[in-house]
Amino acid sequence: MKQLLTIVTAIALTIPAMAQKFEGLALTPPMGWNSWNTFGCDINETVVKETADLFIKLGLKDAGYEYVVIDDGWMEMERDPETLLLVPNKQKFPNGIKTVADYVHSKGLKFGIYNCAGTKTCGGYPGTRGYEFHDARQYAQWGVDFLKYDWCNTGSNGGYDYQQNAAASYAIMRDAIYQAGRPMVFNICEWGDNDPWLWGENIGHSWRISGDIAHCWDCEMSFGTWSKFGLWPIINMRKDIRKYSGPGHWNDFDMLEVGNGFPPAENRTHFVMWCMLASPLMLGNDIRKMDEPTRLLVTNKEVIAIDQDKLGIQGFRFMNLDGFDIWVKPLDKGEWAFAFVNMTEQKRHLSYNWSDFYLKDGLADREIQWNKQKFLLRDLLAHKDCGDTSQKLERDIEAHDIIVFRLYEKK
Ligand code: GAL
Repeated sequence: MKQLLTIVTAIALTIPAMAQKFEGLALTPPMGWNSWNTFGCDINETVVKETADLFIKLGLKDAGYEYVVIDDGWMEMERDPETLLLVPNKQKFPNGIKTVADYVHSKGLKFGIYNCAGTKTCGGYPGTRGYEFHDARQYAQWGVDFLKYDWCNTGSNGGYDYQQNAAASYAIMRDAIYQAGRPMVFNICEWGDNDPWLWGENIGHSWRISGDIAHCWDCEMSFGTWSKFGLWPIINMRKDIRKYSGPGHWNDFDMLEVGNGFPPAENRTHFVMWCMLASPLMLGNDIRKMDEPTRLLVTNKEVIAIDQDKLGIQGFRFMNLDGFDIWVKPLDKGEWAFAFVNMTEQKRHLSYNWSDFYLKDGLADREIQWNKQKFLLRDLLAHKDCGDTSQKLERDIEAHDIIVFRLYEKK
């Protein structure tokens, strides 16, 4: 008997652990900062450390921001010829990546890094294709907590004679991370090209749903084989994918462009909309130069609470009424968030009678019966209680600006 047990144990130990992603991570949308939108490939140790310091000093950590993520551009152009390991760029990261990760951890924060499923990253640095287990082990040794994994040079857009399968490629990296043994949030970034919402839930913790964000309200900037998109093209790009987003597996509307040149009204609309969409909130500005209104906006805990609501249901466009886009997000404990965006180019008066519009959300399987329910209103940008839903809502709203309310019943 004892002998049999020894044999069974020996067999069990030789079978690799079941392939899976690390569960229990990103139960609410990940929050943090990513270098790409401001710095591109021009990133270095000083910027990352100063950013981590400011997470504390500016109240970002206190507001929930956690991950400090280095995007593309951190490597030398070639792997080490002996070890085949990735080599941090010697000018940008003279003390290596582990030092930076340790520094970020010493502030009570988490550290993230970037690579790509192709032969090279989008910036032309060594990609992970064929080195998945090798690289995952390296990241684990460095103390990486978050991996953004891109999709350049995979054959889909790179003129190579093979065509990688996205779901399979991302599954290999998921397995590699799992085998490396360090929990990492796995951020799938293939721009929504291969419908990642259909296969991503068991593979990653979030997936980009679009090409790169641009800091404009409604533009598309074409660069030949790819495009950048403004806020509304991204918001409107995908139909019917909200049902795929939820705790541990989020639709990712891309890093924020808040603070990167938007006028104040558009800054507000961008930030609130990403919260209404339950998107990851990854700041993309240079927080060392952030002005006070932007800081107050991105640390507004009442607005962030909409994004981080533990029910984890993405909001939806309820209707467009007389130039206002009206968005609704079901929240935990029977509460709701309502946002009104002035989509026009002029200041406009909103006159909204709550009970005129019956509301039902099939996904949350909830409705509001206005004749039976009266909700109190909390204006989340103004931090003010402001009556209830039995009264008409009357507001002037600037062009491209937003107002957002939490609807809750008397406790
Ligand atoms: C893009 C990605 C961007 C950024 C960039 C780096 O594919 O969408 O967010 O990571 O690559 O080269």
